[in-house]
Amino acid sequence: MSLLAIETSCDETAAAVIGSDLAVHSSIVASQAETHAAYGGVVPELAARMHLERIAGVTAAALAAVPGGWEVITGVAVTRGPGLAGCLLVGTAYADALAGARGLPVVGVSHMAGHVWAAQLADPGLRPPFVALVVSGGHTDLIHVEALGTVRLLGATRDDAVGEAFDKVARLLGLPYPGGPAIDRTARGGDPARYRLPRPVLPDFGFSFSGLKTAVRYLVDDLRPGDAPLDPAVRADVAASFQAAAVDTLCTQLEAAIEQTGAPRAIIVGGVASNRSLRAEATRRCRGLAQLTIPPPELCTDNAAMVGAAGWEIVRRRGFDQGPLSVDPGLASYT
Ligand code: KG4
Ligand code: ZN
Repeated sequence: MSLLAIETSCDETAAAVIGSDLAVHSSIVASQAETHAAYGGVVPELAARMHLERIAGVTAAALAAVPGGWEVITGVAVTRGPGLAGCLLVGTAYADALAGARGLPVVGVSHMAGHVWAAQLADPGLRPPFVALVVSGGHTDLIHVEALGTVRLLGATRDDAVGEAFDKVARLLGLPYPGGPAIDRTARGGDPARYRLPRPVLPDFGFSFSGLKTAVRYLVDDLRPGDAPLDPAVRADVAASFQAAAVDTLCTQLEAAIEQTGAPRAIIVGGVASNRSLRAEATRRCRGLAQLTIPPPELCTDNAAMVGAAGWEIVRRRGFDQGPLSVDPGLASYT
């Protein structure tokens, strides 16, 4: 019994085969990052067209990697939101068509639930209650998963998502898209204590990253000789100082959420959870507070295995969907 899972919400075309025991039998991710890098960010129209070109090949590769191929597939899971409308349409239409042709049921999955349940692929024993810090290009949410299907939003960003802040600061520093991994790399050679940047801690577990981004802009303007690029050593210090401020803010709110809820476990998921500094700092600060799970980097950034994991959770709880799927670009659900 396995689900074929499909993910096309942003700029990764991905397919995976996941057993009901959550074993990942195959997981293929075709990133479009190189194409969008030329434009400094994701171009929605281009992304949708590339999904259309690649989805069949990526899905065939995921199935070919599994003994038995289609024979072991008992249903199809696909991301139906949140994400770019045109991109979501490619994935859901393809999933509906495949399922229809094969007589298989489909389940529409929230991309955000996918990020959360990626943690269960890394740690099969993960069960509610737990606190989740969800950090991606579009979200910075703290949630309390009280029970299966019962999720309370504790707090969220009031402006930029933290991944968006990494991407924008990278651009200020002349680093390539996607900015998160570029800052992660650059910061390794820098001094995180060189520049003291704002670490806003808002009430109700709120986050705000636009002030931090603006502070980096002023700092870069001050440090740059005229219009010349930053000296590489200075740039590394700015990257490290920005990253330290962002990571400190995230960890402070995560600690507070664990303390307030009394949750015995916590997870950090989403693309930014692959950040080395965040992983190290959160691991240190959660010691003695809660059992912390951070999935390996390839399960933090967008992939279809996480959609399969969330798909199984939904199927167990409320079964497959009836009829064709609708996309919801603004879907805010974690269930
Ligand atoms: O979850 P994800 O792959 O896609 C969305 O659902 O948004 O997250 C993408 C975000 C981007 O903003 C990217 O810059 C950031 O995750 N990211 C990182 C790292 N790897 C990816 N941010 C900081 N450090 C990283 N190593
Ligand atoms: Zn994502």
